[in-house]
Amino acid sequence: MPLIRETIVVTENAAGDAHIAPLGLIAEGEYWIIAPFRPSATLENLRARPFATVNLTDDARVFAGCMTGRRDWPLIPLREGRPPRLAETLAHWELEVVEVREHAERPRFVCSVAAHASHAPFEGHNRAFAAVVEAAVAASRLDLLPRTEIEAEFARLKIVVAKTAGPREAEAFGWLEAKVAAHGAGDADRPRR
Ligand SMILES: Cc1cc2nc3c(=O)[nH]c(=O)nc-3n(C[C@H](O)[C@H](O)[C@H](O)COP(=O)(O)O)c2cc1C
Repeated sequence: MPLIRETIVVTENAAGDAHIAPLGLIAEGEYWIIAPFRPSATLENLRARPFATVNLTDDARVFAGCMTGRRDWPLIPLREGRPPRLAETLAHWELEVVEVREHAERPRFVCSVAAHASHAPFEGHNRAFAAVVEAAVAASRLDLLPRTEIEAEFARLKIVVAKTAGPREAEAFGWLEAKVAAHGAGDADRPRR
């Protein structure tokens, strides 16, 4: 079972427009693998420009925001030809694609770390942050998972958020709850595709 780090990945299309998406990076020795499911803007961008800027952030709102139509997070440019980083991030890595493993559903972009930098101290773990990340993953699978499964997961995570959240985690969880409610309005217990 490989280590997976939940990150915010910034890529650019051929025109240089940045795209922000939460992605789990898979560890493989000294390399990190970005594995986007098709279809994906991140996937198309990595083919157009084989670079990614990976943000290690403790701001749960970025994870939840990207899943709820709030992708407009402030960015800071890096060196020419590299995607920008989040303005508010604890650290970032500049990745270069060194190999592409083609796959019908989920190609794998194997990346080396060309540069990295820290910007703010890590202030410690928070259960509500982890709960928001779990809820964001569930929200990204609304069309794939049965509604009952999603609702049970949210009910469990809501208890953790109520007990341990700060303002950022509480706001982020609220966005995700609203998305699930809107998606399920008038829905039955069947998986949606
Ligand atoms: C914590 C987290 C991890 C995710 N990891 C992946 C991943 O490894 N691969 C993937 O295709 N989508 C992943 N997703 C869902 C993507 O963020 C989402 O589908 C995104 O929009 C990718 O498509 P895009 O590149 O078009 O934005 C993840 C979502 C969250 C919240």
